[in-house]
Amino acid sequence: MASCCSPGSPCSGTNAFFSRWSRFYARRFRSGGLELVQKYLLDGIGTEPISGRSVLDIGCGVGSLHLTLLQRGAATSVGIDLSEGMLREARSFADNLGVGGRTEYINGDFTALAPSVPESDITVLDKVVCCYEDIRALVVSSTGKTKRIYALSHPKENILMKSMFRGHMALARLFGWSFHPFWHNWADMKALIDSQGFSLTYERSTLAWQVLVFRRR
Ligand SMILES: C[S@@+](CC[C@H](N)C(=O)[O-])C[C@H]1O[C@@H](n2cnc3c(N)ncnc32)[C@H](O)[C@@H]1O
Repeated sequence: MASCCSPGSPCSGTNAFFSRWSRFYARRFRSGGLELVQKYLLDGIGTEPISGRSVLDIGCGVGSLHLTLLQRGAATSVGIDLSEGMLREARSFADNLGVGGRTEYINGDFTALAPSVPESDITVLDKVVCCYEDIRALVVSSTGKTKRIYALSHPKENILMKSMFRGHMALARLFGWSFHPFWHNWADMKALIDSQGFSLTYERSTLAWQVLVFRRR
């Protein structure tokens, strides 16, 4: 398993934060299956055939999405995450579900690792764009790896989510926490994805998350 997070770097804060939360994510997936936002992502991805496709799950967490896509007929997947704890849980789920031989895991920052990551038919970033500062680098490098479908979720543009994010960011600044989320300009992000050769084919939201699925033109 490759790693590129040196101690003290911003991504080591993200690793520590999400590794602490990984058991919660695993418990939720084990007991409740998929979140509503993930069901919508799969609906949007499923408007195209999944069978035999390759999947790249960036910020894959405990693996809910690529593991479900493998169970639904995708051929292979690569899960990448900054968090070692998340990847431990994902690997354990993959083995228990009998798909461990069809998925690979890489620990580190996708934007740094991108040159060595294989292209995929389907790329997924579920609740990841709000956990990374350089949104442009993340979008450009991940769309560049995508042959067909590019699916992501981002925080919904509403008072509830804006206040939650701004609150977390303010507390992180005050107490010097090593991780905080990011509120980007989501309209600009959408335009950037479009400019990389993708057209929006599916859009749906929950109270908290906006789901966008694009197809390469
Ligand atoms: C909010 S969690 C979502 C996890 C999973 N996608 C889900 O929805 O259950 C965001 C995840 O993205 C990962 N992440 C953020 N930026 C990343 C990057 N540049 N490369 C790899 N992983 C990243 C974090 O470590 C974290 O596990």
